[in-house]
Amino acid sequence: MAFVSHAPTILVFDSGLGGLTVFREIVKLRPDARYTYVADDAYFPYGQHTEDEIIARVVPLIGDLIAEHRPDLVVIACNTASTLVMTHLRETYSVPFVGTVPAIKPACASSKTKRVSVLGTRGTVKREYTKKLIADFAQSCDVTLVGAENLASLAEATLRGEQVSDEAIAAEIAPCFLDGQNGNGARTDTVVLACTHYPLLIGQMLALAPWTVDWIDPAPAIARRVGSLLGPPNAHGEEPEAQFRFTSGQAPNPVLAKVLKPFICASVAT
Ligand code: DGL
Repeated sequence: MAFVSHAPTILVFDSGLGGLTVFREIVKLRPDARYTYVADDAYFPYGQHTEDEIIARVVPLIGDLIAEHRPDLVVIACNTASTLVMTHLRETYSVPFVGTVPAIKPACASSKTKRVSVLGTRGTVKREYTKKLIADFAQSCDVTLVGAENLASLAEATLRGEQVSDEAIAAEIAPCFLDGQNGNGARTDTVVLACTHYPLLIGQMLALAPWTVDWIDPAPAIARRVGSLLGPPNAHGEEPEAQFRFTSGQAPNPVLAKVLKPFICASVAT
């Protein structure tokens, strides 16, 4: 696409609040843009829907959002959706899309023990797309797919100010940690965060991990891709703007409203 000379409009989409981890990286690179963040919370969690349901939900919904917001670029900040719908979206709409898929290639390239875990939703770890990434990029690594049942919901609950126990988070991440007793005899040293919600819990995961690993968050790389498609920020750009939309129609509670504010430096319309 040709670089846009005006302040671009960027639509960031996720099933919930996980896309904020991508959004905050994009804002750093394009502070001059106008943002619409859409959380499809009426259909959350995507990880519990079938592939057909997600395609049938997301493709027309994105069409409606494009018609309403006329974005210059759309970011599907959700692995569970991106691993399914990117081809459909690109075939159906002419707007450029950036997706979010498990960062298996860089994780396997940097693992020293050659033992990598991919922590995603149950949907993402089942995808053919994910299996193909492993076939193409695992190199000599032993890759373990871990489908977390509730971790995205626990991240949502944390952002809304609800109590989430350490035990609940520890139980979800435990299968990522394989010691030398099985498989290739080495210990896991790298975990791919293959759901955009999970970096929201990184503090807890670092504290609860049975040993130190590298947690691979692809958000900065996704932001760089957005930056390369849109070009450099407009030096005399306007103040950044963001509006948050929830498909349930529910307004964020006061705790969440406070969380959303710093995601953009200027005024935030919710
Ligand atoms: N944030 C989404 C992802 O990256 C998933 C959360 C959900 O299950 O809806 O996969």
